[in-house]
Amino acid sequence: MTENHISIQTQDLHCQFGDLHAVDGITFEVETGTIFGFLGPNGAGKTTTIRLLLGLLEPSAGSARVLGFDTHTQADQIRLNCGALLEHSGLYERLSAEDNLDLFGRIWHLSSEQRTQRIQNLLENMGLYERRKEIVQTWSHGMKQKLAVARTLMHDPKLVFLDEPTAGLDPLASSGLREDLVQMARRHGVTVFLTTHNLAEAEKICDRVGVINKGKLISVGSPDELRLKQGTNSLLVVGRGFEQSILNELKAMPDVTAVEIQDHHLVVHFKQETESGKLVQFLAGKGVMIDEVRKGKASLEDAFLALLEEEE
Ligand SMILES: Nc1ncnc2c1ncn2[C@@H]1O[C@H](COP(=O)(O)OP(=O)(O)OP(=O)(O)O)[C@@H](O)[C@H]1O
Ligand SMILES: [Mg+2]
Repeated sequence: MTENHISIQTQDLHCQFGDLHAVDGITFEVETGTIFGFLGPNGAGKTTTIRLLLGLLEPSAGSARVLGFDTHTQADQIRLNCGALLEHSGLYERLSAEDNLDLFGRIWHLSSEQRTQRIQNLLENMGLYERRKEIVQTWSHGMKQKLAVARTLMHDPKLVFLDEPTAGLDPLASSGLREDLVQMARRHGVTVFLTTHNLAEAEKICDRVGVINKGKLISVGSPDELRLKQGTNSLLVVGRGFEQSILNELKAMPDVTAVEIQDHHLVVHFKQETESGKLVQFLAGKGVMIDEVRKGKASLEDAFLALLEEEE
């Protein structure tokens, strides 16, 4: 695979603030044209990693290349070719939405026609075109967030870093933005590196995800791989006759990870590779009267929580 196929490459990247190892030796790659989700709890090191990748922070050890450019010596090139939405929106509150985008268009040396076209496209996509003349200060949080994302995309970057782009957006707006990101990646080959605390979102749109905790990358793979590796499936059994002795036997099975009982419901969590029919057979064999059985698949969120629990 040539360099062009890889948009981001880090090698044992470290960033230390005093005694704190905010980023503690991470190595990973992101393929061009894919959506990579960077997941982790608060303070895990996600934003710090983005700042390292943009060359805004110096690594204390290790190295990274973004679009083939070294973050240490070629940060200007990286910033020229990437779009980035960090925790601060970077908007000018006293300017109108349109003037904000126009200003950024000028910074990127877009022609007047390009700017007009781009502003219309982006604001129409976000449902904000009609309100383009309004001063940003008067806008709601979600509207500002959408404008901040639009600003990031103004110059048609090859790679975008989006730090919690859908935080504070309503479900319709988040879903619209997710669709836009998927289109950008699939149709235009744009690489998207995003962080989110919304794991259902990551599961929906990310080709691969990396999980970072306390500065260390603890898992990288497709959402499916992560689910299969970490998550447990569950079985909801509605019925009667869930005797304590049966539950104890169930709990003792090596494949079963947890058992919950509520009135006439029993929920059994078990390892992915386990055949669920085996469990139903076991219950029936013990004389449980089964009315209904429903299977539940582990979500990325389940897998994420299990992974972090393991780390504790
Ligand atoms: N400039 C700085 N000086 C000192 N410590 C810092 C600095 N920037 C980040 N940190 C620390 O580094 C750690 C990682 O912070 P970071 O902002 O990367 O977390 P995050 O994963 O983005 O979290 P969140 O989900 O809350 O946004 C935190 O403990 C934070 O306090
Ligand atoms: Mg952050």
